[in-house]
Amino acid sequence: MVANTIKFLLNNELVELANIDPNTTVLQYLREEQFKSGTKEGCASGDCGACTVVLADLDSENDTQLNYKSVNACITFVGNLHGKQLITVEDLKDGAKLHHAQQTIVDNHGTQCGFCTPGFVMSSFALHKHNQKPNRDEVLEALAGNLCRCTGYRSIIEAAITSSEHTEDDSFAKHYQQTVTALNELQKLPTPNLSGNGNNYIAPQNIDELAYELKSEPTSTLVAGGTDLALSVTQNLAVVKKLVYVGNVAELTTIEETDNDIIIGSALPYSDFIDTLHHYYPDLGDMIERIGAKQVRNTGTLGGNVGNASPIGDMPPALIALGATMTLHLDGVERTILVEDFFLDYKKTVLKESEFIKSITIPKPIAGQTLKLYKISKRLDDDISAVLAAFFIETKAEQGGQKVTNVRLAFGGMAGIPKRGPAAESALLGKDLTKETVAQAKVALATDFQPMTDVRATDKYRMTVAQNLIEKCYLELTSAYTSNVIETRVVNN
Ligand SMILES: Cc1cc2nc3c(=O)[nH]c(=O)nc-3n(C[C@H](O)[C@H](O)[C@H](O)COP(=O)(O)OP(=O)(O)OC[C@H]3O[C@@H](n4cnc5c(N)ncnc54)[C@H](O)[C@@H]3O)c2cc1C
Ligand code: FES
Ligand code: FES
Repeated sequence: MVANTIKFLLNNELVELANIDPNTTVLQYLREEQFKSGTKEGCASGDCGACTVVLADLDSENDTQLNYKSVNACITFVGNLHGKQLITVEDLKDGAKLHHAQQTIVDNHGTQCGFCTPGFVMSSFALHKHNQKPNRDEVLEALAGNLCRCTGYRSIIEAAITSSEHTEDDSFAKHYQQTVTALNELQKLPTPNLSGNGNNYIAPQNIDELAYELKSEPTSTLVAGGTDLALSVTQNLAVVKKLVYVGNVAELTTIEETDNDIIIGSALPYSDFIDTLHHYYPDLGDMIERIGAKQVRNTGTLGGNVGNASPIGDMPPALIALGATMTLHLDGVERTILVEDFFLDYKKTVLKESEFIKSITIPKPIAGQTLKLYKISKRLDDDISAVLAAFFIETKAEQGGQKVTNVRLAFGGMAGIPKRGPAAESALLGKDLTKETVAQAKVALATDFQPMTDVRATDKYRMTVAQNLIEKCYLELTSAYTSNVIETRVVNN
């Protein structure tokens, strides 16, 4: 059964939405339909955090628990609100009393023009709902997606740290049980569906419904977090005729471990799998922490990152280096392919009409294997890579040296698709890992790629840095130089 409506809580009030264009963002809805102007529009592209709101939803494994996540309202479609609680800066006060996430901003002089302030307050609020005793690094991580052009960050950071010392119940704690009950009721509703301006939205609840939707209307556009797709609406003014939201599909939002593998549902947000990947591959966890900022990782997904087929997406090179596979689903039939075989040409993939990504399977590491990742971007946080290098190397001690028994060197930003460097790999495979073989691999890499020049880096810079990263990896593996520091600067060239 399909209902022509979506339902959610706006703070504590149940809202039923019908007849609204599904291309509407949460930010537009708040400001233009609800006249709640506390949530600001800075960039409309997920970069500044001025539009940060918090979404609370039921934990997928414990329906008596709420998870509070900061998201960018400017790149979240209104349909994604179904079944959740939307909290804006107007909702934080308890009667006349400011929330401590607000009061500490006042006390620490953390605001001047005030444009960025609601966004910072909401990021701080989400952090404290999620983590009662954050350390300084966790505070910095929570605020990294919020920009301030006039106050300066010290006082804002101090405010967020001080806020964590408050332990009294806020209005959300007081209404916790009521919210849990209301959201559980919303979970029982039929498949949500929206129409407006001749455009449609549906949020299938299981994989069969999703496959059916795509089979019946093959021109539909899949949306998960929307952190890529929504930019085409907010920046390029595209209109999506039919949106199919995958974030409610039970089979696509799980994470599972077997003896040998980690299987991640394509629609599971980064925040929900980063810890597992960090446990097995610390470099991968560190790198995911540099994908966008917290708001982007709270909604962005692996399926969206791979499905978008961008040559500068950060996950594909890592997945290729790891030998990860992906399961694709078409009308009840599944096939499994290597992630490296998914990409055909710039933004072209092997996906057939009506087919979608179900899950991605990452092998667990075994002794002798190493994954090294290097993200080269101008800023540490919230920045797109100029080059992403992902090196998987397996060695065996032999005759006093380390023989390379398996190697995959994958790169993003070096070609129209993320891909491996076969000549550089050949220079290393079966050889001792020495300065000489690494020098040969660097030379060979120049025959693997002809990178382009764009705003992020020149072709010459890209090649030079990629070659040098092979050497850096070698030095880290073989010498006392074991720093985990990830290079972040694109030097002028
Ligand atoms: C401020 C900002 C910073 C960012 N920083 C980074 C960064 O540092 N590194 C990086 O790699 N990316 C970055 N991104 C891009 C984006 O956040 C990621 O690519 C994210 O993983 C996309 O996931 P999503 O769920 O939001 O995708 P969506 O926008 O929902 O979808 C993206 C594309 O994938 C398709 N798709 C979605 N799910 C599936 C599926 N199951 N099967 C087939 N196709 C599917 C959609 O149809 C769409 O074409 C950034 C984005 C923003 C706004
Ligand atoms: S308005 Fe800048 S992130 Fe949304
Ligand atoms: S207070 Fe003015 S932008 Fe932050």
